[in-house]
Amino acid sequence: MTASLGLLRKLSLAGALVAASCAHTPAAPGTAPTSPQPPRGSSPAAEARPRTVATQTYSAQQAQAGEPLFAAHCGFCHGRDAMGGETGPDLTRSALVAEDVRGDKIGPVVHNGRPEKGMPPLNLSTGDVAAIVAFLHAQKTKAESNQGSRRSVEEGDLQTGDAEAGRRYFEGPGGCSKCHAPSGDLAGVADRLKGLELLQRMLYPSPRSGAGSPATATVTLKSGEIVKGRLAYRDEFTIAVRDGSGTYRSWPASEVTFTVDNPLDAHAAQLAKYTDEDVHNVLAYLQTLHK
Ligand code: HEC
Ligand code: HEC
Repeated sequence: MTASLGLLRKLSLAGALVAASCAHTPAAPGTAPTSPQPPRGSSPAAEARPRTVATQTYSAQQAQAGEPLFAAHCGFCHGRDAMGGETGPDLTRSALVAEDVRGDKIGPVVHNGRPEKGMPPLNLSTGDVAAIVAFLHAQKTKAESNQGSRRSVEEGDLQTGDAEAGRRYFEGPGGCSKCHAPSGDLAGVADRLKGLELLQRMLYPSPRSGAGSPATATVTLKSGEIVKGRLAYRDEFTIAVRDGSGTYRSWPASEVTFTVDNPLDAHAAQLAKYTDEDVHNVLAYLQTLHK
């Protein structure tokens, strides 16, 4: 694991920055975004956390081992403390986590991801997943006992990189040039996306809402028939594709074999490889790509 934790910690607090920057006024840490305010009581934070269904005990070591793993593989999106980030939900409030018993629900989500919803499948060992599960249950218990206050992150924290080093990383070890060109698809990316939004897209560009997943799937049925198409849906139980004629076809995942080819896999794999410095540098480089 190479990703250091400083930026990850800040990213976990990043939701607050987005709220602040959307309001276009400098907001004090902890200040709620300005209008429109959700009706009282309807914000997720106002709802009671679903209670853990089966009490489980984990050793302190297990939960501790899970913390850096969670930060490296999940913290970008769910927040380093699992309480929600810019793209991933607060897992201490998740009904699925509440119903989980020793990874029986969390494990399959990690393994399969929810690619069309912005969560990539993550290829982790059974031991790592067990430690992450222990950490999540510990965080949930902690969250139930105290309402931790969230801190804010300054936009300035995102502006500390070295653009030239970022360019070298982009063209060299990052392998970004295999798919992107600064004067091609990424021309003007700095005009289109700013600050945290650019950072989020750079880390894991989940399909924009409305746009389908860029993934394709090849499904082999029991009869031997092979169906290829755009991945239309996938969760722990179901796989569906839209075939060449546009027809939606779905199967129970346990009754077919399938492979999924997702051009965003490179981004998912990159999440664990970036150091803090690389992230800052590449971001600084992308911020120079004006039209
Ligand atoms: C690139 C962003 C991203 C990463 C990395 C990521 N997730 Fe997620 N995760 C999401 C999003 C987005 C959802 C919500 C999907 C949906 O709406 O169904 C989600 C959903 C989940 C859920 C289901 C919550 C529920 O109530 O349905 C669990 C559990 C979960 N993630 C755990 C993890 C764990 C553990 C890791 C790391 C091993 C991880 N995620 C990594 C983005 C991410
Ligand atoms: C295997 C191909 C591949 C590699 C390698 C790759 N990307 Fe991407 N990247 C994609 C795809 C696919 C998208 C989604 C395109 C879209 O939705 O507009 C994307 C989107 C992006 C976006 C968002 C662009 C936008 O207009 O919203 C940024 C920024 C980005 N990648 C940066 C990087 C960086 C930095 C690296 C190297 C560390 C990298 N990518 C490596 C395939 C790749």
